[in-house]
Amino acid sequence: MTLKGKKILLGLTGGVAAYKAAELARGLVKAGANVRAVMTKSAAKFVTPTTLQALTGQEVWIDLWDKRVPDAMGHIELSRDRDLIVVAPASANFMAKVAQGLADDLLSTLVLARRCPLLLAPAMNVEMWQSAATRRNAKTLAADGVLFAGPAAGDQACGEVGMGRMLEPGQILALIEGGFQPKRLAGKRFLVTAGPTEEPIDPVRVITNSSSGKMGYAVARAAREAGAGVVLVSGPVALETPEGVQRINVRSAAQMFGEVKARLKGCDVFVSVAAVADFRPKKAARQKIKKGEREGMVIEMERNPDILAWAAAQKNAPFCVGFAAESENLAANAKAKRRKKGIPLLAANLAQKALGSDENALTLYDERGAHPLGRGPKLEQARKLVAHVAAMLRSGKKAR
Ligand code: CTP
Repeated sequence: MTLKGKKILLGLTGGVAAYKAAELARGLVKAGANVRAVMTKSAAKFVTPTTLQALTGQEVWIDLWDKRVPDAMGHIELSRDRDLIVVAPASANFMAKVAQGLADDLLSTLVLARRCPLLLAPAMNVEMWQSAATRRNAKTLAADGVLFAGPAAGDQACGEVGMGRMLEPGQILALIEGGFQPKRLAGKRFLVTAGPTEEPIDPVRVITNSSSGKMGYAVARAAREAGAGVVLVSGPVALETPEGVQRINVRSAAQMFGEVKARLKGCDVFVSVAAVADFRPKKAARQKIKKGEREGMVIEMERNPDILAWAAAQKNAPFCVGFAAESENLAANAKAKRRKKGIPLLAANLAQKALGSDENALTLYDERGAHPLGRGPKLEQARKLVAHVAAMLRSGKKAR
């Protein structure tokens, strides 16, 4: 129930993507929000008010002169108690109207008279999105403080391909949830490592760790949602970069170390989530190794630098957070690791229960002891971790 108690006005304008707004309405309600839907007349040609009414459990509004509003002040009443207005899909025409401050139907009037933030999820043909007028309007809207969710590039309903597709309902929902997170870390700078590293044996083979990168990406996203500036140094994973996060791609532990070294100084918090390979082949073959007649082979390995231990040992080190995926004896191993690395906070979990999954069950270890976060989605766990870091920073905790 991430949006429990939040009051949202969901606006729909005319576009094929309006059918996706029905799913967004469902997601918002499921997340605990109170959703009031307002449609333009053209939106009602794509999806029926009855659908929205059934999904939100509330009356749906279309007409500025609706008789249900006794004093014809609906344009104020319907948006006054809202925490957020989301318009999805937002057509090119609607963007133009909002940019100009036009109020010629119920939805545009409510938007103009709003007191709460406005989030637009544009959906339109690629040429419309790229047109000089829409570019101009998008700039004006952003300067006016209007927030945007997308659009994305891809196949379009009109058969063309390009920028202008509405984000998927789940992505819009995630942005809304993120927007409501308390800005506990405004002004702080985070450096986060994520994913596995790959240590080359030859041009086509590597030694690596099992890691999807999901936990590290969730931490980067949660820190960003909490208002921090975030740089994410990522090993090779197939994940989307969280909104507003600066991502730097690396492959090997040595490359990851190089990027962390170059960026550590300016940051307040370093969260080392990456599953860094502890060893690398001493010599990577220049050519692909042929199996030939041999029955087996030995690869000589050497130690990789311990990036986290290095960071924590620096003079004026940032607040360092480590991760530990253990296969057994979680508490004992985690406590020992926190001490050995010289860090104030360590998040530990049993690897077999988290690897590749969207869920995790972290326990945080700090100087006060153990803080189990329960089991839940990685993003939820990351938000709790970030809240814990913020609280420790507030109480003046530095490294060690
Ligand atoms: N870590 C790191 N550099 C390494 C190895 C690990 O920065 N070369 C970081 C990880 O990102 C994680 C923490 O150290 O935050 C613990 O990683 P883990 O592999 O569990 O611990 P190790 O120090 O490698 O200890 P061990 O292999 O003995 O469990």
